Amino acid sequence: MKPLTHILSTEQFTRTTLEQLFTDVAAIEKLVNEKGGDDRLKHKVVATLFYEPSTRTSSSFIAATQRLGGTVIAINDTKTTSHAKGESLQDTIRTLEQYVDCIVLRHPEIGAVRQASEVANIPVISAGDGGGEHPTQALLDLYTTKREVGRLDNLTVAFGTDLLHSRTVRSFAYMLSKFKNNHLIFVSPKELQIGEDVKTYLKKQNTTFEETDDMESALKKADVIYWNRIQKERFTGNVPAQKFVIKTTHLDLLKPDAVILNPLPRIDEIETGVDRDLRAAYFRQMRYGLYVRMALLDNVINRRTK
Ligand code: CP
Repeated sequence: MKPLTHILSTEQFTRTTLEQLFTDVAAIEKLVNEKGGDDRLKHKVVATLFYEPSTRTSSSFIAATQRLGGTVIAINDTKTTSHAKGESLQDTIRTLEQYVDCIVLRHPEIGAVRQASEVANIPVISAGDGGGEHPTQALLDLYTTKREVGRLDNLTVAFGTDLLHSRTVRSFAYMLSKFKNNHLIFVSPKELQIGEDVKTYLKKQNTTFEETDDMESALKKADVIYWNRIQKERFTGNVPAQKFVIKTTHLDLLKPDAVILNPLPRIDEIETGVDRDLRAAYFRQMRYGLYVRMALLDNVINRRTK
């Protein structure tokens, strides 16, 4: 596999590179489960620089680095950095690259991570840019699907509920369109329907999709149910979404081998009672994210200089 440099978008990946990456991820999964990790990032330092809140992405990148023998500078509160004095993102990147081997960056503005990568001499990994993309989440969503469903082609995937503001929905939809014969069902209130940009992209890729507000019908057809919260931080006002909550009473509608994913955090879009169903894979999904991020860090930090 050609070494990855920056990781900024799902656009960078092809079916072939994804399959190669997932071979590495599977080896890491085995390593973690047998030995906990190794020292391939010994003497390497990663900065996690988060201008937006995070629990999973930040802590999994930290754990991923540490399980490979590296160390981390974790910046989760930019109010305590020179950002508070007015320093630009670009200058913060130029600063951190003096000390570290890779920067994992989350920023509220679409395109900001790409702009940061343009001034960086070390790899920059996007941990999400506003309502834009979240490429490493999409990689772990895809790896979870491969592990839990056993295939990445011929899938019916139901997406809910805030499709308009969700970067994880956009990135996972883009990833699924790289595989054959996948059909996407977008389930949402009309105020939160999937954006035209995603629909245009899917048409170009010849990936079929439909839009509906009939959640029950979508749940019956889906192999993968990808449910996400209303992204309240990205718009003002209130959209009633009670009819899009997955409840224990819906579980009988699902295919026996369906899986329910959620990038999390879960707010109220899935009842907690659903967690007990084995098809609820969203907690296992986070663990797969650790393996994916370990493989990505190994790839960008070690193979870059070969
Ligand atoms: N899925 C995800 O990005 O979660 P965090 O916001 O907690 O990182």
